[in-house]
Amino acid sequence: MSAVRSRHRAAVVAGIGGALPERVVTNHEIAARLDTSDEWIRTRTGIRERRRVAPGQSTVDLAEEAGRAALGPDGHADAVVLATSTADQLCPATAPQVAARLGLGTVLAFDVNAVCSGFIYALATAAGFIAGGMAERVLVIGADVFTSLVDPDDRTTVPIFGDGGGAVLLRAGEPGERGALGPFDLHSEGELAKLLWVEAGGAAQRVPENPKDRFMVMQGTAVFRQACARMAESSRAVLEEAGWMVGDIDRFVGHQANIRILQATAKQLGMPADAVVSNIDRVGNTSAASIPLALADAVADGTLTPGHRVLLTAFGAGLTWGSTVLTWPELS
Ligand code: COA
Repeated sequence: MSAVRSRHRAAVVAGIGGALPERVVTNHEIAARLDTSDEWIRTRTGIRERRRVAPGQSTVDLAEEAGRAALGPDGHADAVVLATSTADQLCPATAPQVAARLGLGTVLAFDVNAVCSGFIYALATAAGFIAGGMAERVLVIGADVFTSLVDPDDRTTVPIFGDGGGAVLLRAGEPGERGALGPFDLHSEGELAKLLWVEAGGAAQRVPENPKDRFMVMQGTAVFRQACARMAESSRAVLEEAGWMVGDIDRFVGHQANIRILQATAKQLGMPADAVVSNIDRVGNTSAASIPLALADAVADGTLTPGHRVLLTAFGAGLTWGSTVLTWPELS
């Protein structure tokens, strides 16, 4: 889908929340086990530490915690859209369990899998439900336990990925108001699916022929190039559709894959380095949780304030990528 603007009701951000497991995994801890170093990881990725779930903790737990924070004490929603590629089970989806835990009753609830772009895809899906009158308030969550997909012996992926959850509450509102999302720009390129790939565990090869086939393999350099090019291209498309100039953007919240990817993309767009919002040093790449967690952290530390014009852009396995814009609202 190239940039599409809804002519109907807008989806407006009305709440935000994040969730991280308590367990911190430092670069030094990884370097004690694998052939790498704190210095290599910091200079190549910008990551100092990431979080990992405790035994028994999983995607549903992080999604519930982030969702509860976004809903607020008296919040309610009539739909839950969960972006994840690490659902607790292959079947069913995890979103209905999240809705039940949050006491939302029998609301519509389902998962969206667009890997690291999942949150932008889920926002667009929720905005469509609101525009079409199918829902008034949608809880959009991004949650992933990527440490379950990473080969603990693979130094090319272990340092990069961490676990987390993030969420926003969307309500029906007016297209011009603060917090209104859109337009959206969404794309995919399945020809390049194997750049980030998990061979086994799905219907094509349920039981791994080789035990390592249940882990993700990544062509790091090719992914790096694709991520920069696609996020820049999509950002330009969505800005053009919105009628905004690059110079109008106060905060650039890109998928937290690698600080060098974020900086290179911002540079390609001609955006100042201080517009780049990043928490990657503390959380690593949390896949679908990355953008809402970065937003939640930026609100908490005062980097993102009401009135800021924000560009959200993501890239992930699939390949998938996409962007949207909003003016940050007052949140109670
Ligand atoms: N510690 C030390 N050396 C490592 C290493 C590690 N953790 N991981 C890889 N290396 C080695 C490589 O084996 C390679 O060695 P070689 O030259 O002998 O083959 C060397 O470092 C350089 O690897 P290269 O892949 O060229 O480094 P890079 O500058 O591209 O950085 C990544 C590697 C993975 C950090 C980078 O490619 C990247 O961030 N890619 C995108 C990943 C991503 O964002 N994925 C998710 C997308 S949603």
